[in-house]
Amino acid sequence: MSEIEVVRHYTRFTEESYGVDNGPVPLGSCTMKYNPRIATNYVNSEYLANIHPSLLKFETAQNILKLMYQLQEWLKEITGMDACTLQPPAGASGELTGVLIIKKYFQERGDTQRDEMLIPDSAHGSNPASSSMGGFKSVRIPSDEHGLVNLEALRASVSNKTAGLMLTNPNTLGLFEKNITEVTKILHENEAIVHYDGANLNGIIGIARPGDMGFDIVHLNLHKTFSAPHGGGGPGAGAVCVKKYLEDYLPGYIVSKDDNGRYFLKKMSKSIGDVYSTYGNLPGMIYAYIFILSYGSDIYKVAKYSTLNTNFFISLLKGVKGITLPYDEKTPRLHETVLSFKKLAEETGVTVEDVAKYLLDNGFYAPTIYFPLIVDEAFMIEFTETESYENIVKYAEVVKKAIEIAYTNPSELKQAPINTSVRRLDAVKANHPSTLKPSVKFGRK
Ligand SMILES: Cc1ncc(COP(=O)(O)O)c(C=O)c1O
Repeated sequence: MSEIEVVRHYTRFTEESYGVDNGPVPLGSCTMKYNPRIATNYVNSEYLANIHPSLLKFETAQNILKLMYQLQEWLKEITGMDACTLQPPAGASGELTGVLIIKKYFQERGDTQRDEMLIPDSAHGSNPASSSMGGFKSVRIPSDEHGLVNLEALRASVSNKTAGLMLTNPNTLGLFEKNITEVTKILHENEAIVHYDGANLNGIIGIARPGDMGFDIVHLNLHKTFSAPHGGGGPGAGAVCVKKYLEDYLPGYIVSKDDNGRYFLKKMSKSIGDVYSTYGNLPGMIYAYIFILSYGSDIYKVAKYSTLNTNFFISLLKGVKGITLPYDEKTPRLHETVLSFKKLAEETGVTVEDVAKYLLDNGFYAPTIYFPLIVDEAFMIEFTETESYENIVKYAEVVKKAIEIAYTNPSELKQAPINTSVRRLDAVKANHPSTLKPSVKFGRK
């Protein structure tokens, strides 16, 4: 092919895709924020991009080990924990790491009857998946009428079979679990372990710490809260931090410092083993390092502005026909919120999926839909701290316009999207094993 054909081919692809560099990507629970270019420049620099652990001795990798060591220290401070590993490559991998630590801890104690993991019904699907992969039975804990963990149900579910609880706070509804210290106390009284799903740390970073709430294990999505590009933009990174009594179980290599100030990689004595390659995903760590460094002690502003943006968006849609804010309408949300379009669907036949497709037609990325499962016709939206006032206003206007069309000409919305390079995709088919064969051809047709 001629050069110009190749250039046009790839340029067309860039025009067909959409990412945070094009506009807001307010996918709830995904924390898609702007990735400052200064960080990308460092990640791509020849000094950092080509580092390979098996080609470097500790002595020649001192600066990168220093960066990793410092990152571990900062993450400990941010989470209120005592030790961290940077090896897991994603949030779900961090969850599995936590689950395997819990498993090994109880195996070592001979407490092998503990085969149950408690998981609230508002949790992300990866929580029960990780628990099952670790060999635990997942026990569903219902939410109460305020959208928080139902304490009665929790008490009734805890027993000497309980190994742990996996919980994200703020939860996936964007609500802060105000009884969190009671929740962790209930588990600890039963000698069980509490794992913090850090996907939602953006709502509290710099303001509240999971370690102070009683969590024993924390996984962090460096690619969400700490700005590393993800969702097609790059590999994830799922650091895991633990309280002192679990430090020996950490996987991979922990970066340590000797008495002469030299950095080295250390394996822990009771380690669950490796969960990924040597260092983990270094680019994600470099992004996180630069992100934390650039905010310094102002890092609480991340939580403050993402919360402000979300509540501003809620205020713009307040009272709009067909939309409700399930659970305590007056309680402010943190970094994200879940609206219900159930009424709209009942009154017009237009579903939240139709509205999402209409947003695509208007040049915006759709929010997360149909999750969490406890909200019917869920519209889960998260405007991070990097989103502008103007874009949030425009986004709300498009949603309002969709509602107006739903009540006047619903069939129009059933056609959406019409302005995108592909129309409605068969989302079920795309996830079906029979379609995931190597012979599947990717491309426009
Ligand atoms: C609440 C929650 N927990 C865990 C995860 C899993 O994280 P990852 O996608 O990095 O594996 C997600 C991802 O969206 C999430 O929203």
